Amino acid sequence: MRVIYFDHSATTPVHPAVANEMYNFLTGDNFGNPSSIYRFGRMAREAIELARGKIARAIGADPNSPTEIVFTSGGTESDNMAIHGAAYTNSNRGNHIISCAVEHHAVLNTVKALGQQGFDITILPVDRYGLVDASDVAKAVTDKTILITIMHANNEVGTIMPIAEIGKLAKERGIIFHVDAVQSFGKVPVNVDELSVDLLTISGHKIYGPKGTGALYIRTGTAWQQTLLHGGAQERLRRAGTENVPGIIGLGKAVELAMENMEKENKRLSNLRDRLIREVTTNFKDVRLTGHPAKRLPNHASFLFEDIEGEELQLKLDAEDIAASTGSACTSGSMEPSHVLMAMGVPPAEAYGSLRLTLGAGNTEEDVDRFLAVLGPAVESLRI
Ligand SMILES: Cc1ncc(COP(=O)(O)O)c(C=O)c1O
Repeated sequence: MRVIYFDHSATTPVHPAVANEMYNFLTGDNFGNPSSIYRFGRMAREAIELARGKIARAIGADPNSPTEIVFTSGGTESDNMAIHGAAYTNSNRGNHIISCAVEHHAVLNTVKALGQQGFDITILPVDRYGLVDASDVAKAVTDKTILITIMHANNEVGTIMPIAEIGKLAKERGIIFHVDAVQSFGKVPVNVDELSVDLLTISGHKIYGPKGTGALYIRTGTAWQQTLLHGGAQERLRRAGTENVPGIIGLGKAVELAMENMEKENKRLSNLRDRLIREVTTNFKDVRLTGHPAKRLPNHASFLFEDIEGEELQLKLDAEDIAASTGSACTSGSMEPSHVLMAMGVPPAEAYGSLRLTLGAGNTEEDVDRFLAVLGPAVESLRI
């Protein structure tokens, strides 16, 4: 039986057109080092600049700027680069950084590491929907605040944060604003001017691109210097190391396709999502939606089942050829309850009952039918 893949927030399959474009840069004469000035190098360089332009256009950045989009190895590196670079470049002006409790660990642990290096860190709370309050951000700002880093959409519960509001206040106070848009980019519009964002993180493998690819947007004029990788002058001194040419080509193609399909997919997937949410919360006892009921990603449905271990439910579904997730990555051996659900006020014992269904390109109404048919017996058998 075909496996139903309901875990697009974890990763996505590579789109065949993306793989095709990458293949061209893994074979034949397209192997040049983009720093070389002879033709092989120039071919690679041109392809990279084309990809850079596509990404810039997709987020409303300057498509002619050679420095606003920097290619990285993914969301984690972009987050680290953004936060570390902004903190150290501005440490002569202040040492205060604001973030929030439901960030991905790529942000949260970077900010915490800076806390150990002498920066003053404020981690803002969220409400029961996982929303950070823009007025809490405003209250937390001091004359030492140099950076605010808040995610656009949460990976575990799908909640979309009031980024434009926070961006406006950051801009008014001259504070650098970084946004992790790994989950939102390609699913909802992300425009760096409308959101008043200075630094923005995206990742390739959440949008049908290759794993290990991503980009960091750096608004022209932002006081930011690279602080992590020491090496060559690639990416205009912003990211040392020979470029991952096939990966960058693949990322560019994935972004192009995401922009073409976003509006249509947004509608289609939000209909499937709404049906999932409606049927799961009405047909089952002792289950509730997590995250915001309206301000959420179009492809994201997440639940808490009472008296059930999410991991066990995940395995039951897997046995029925359905790939879903609990929403939180746990290190094997140490099953910590999700920091996101805990920050939303879910008691630790209940936080284990989470199930996350994140839809994508291959999913259909029939997938939802089959999932709903399988979920009943699975839940019943686990609650005995
Ligand atoms: C919100 C968010 N930020 C960052 C990352 C890390 O991205 P990458 O896997 O490309 O390093 C993820 C991955 O799940 C994510 O969901």
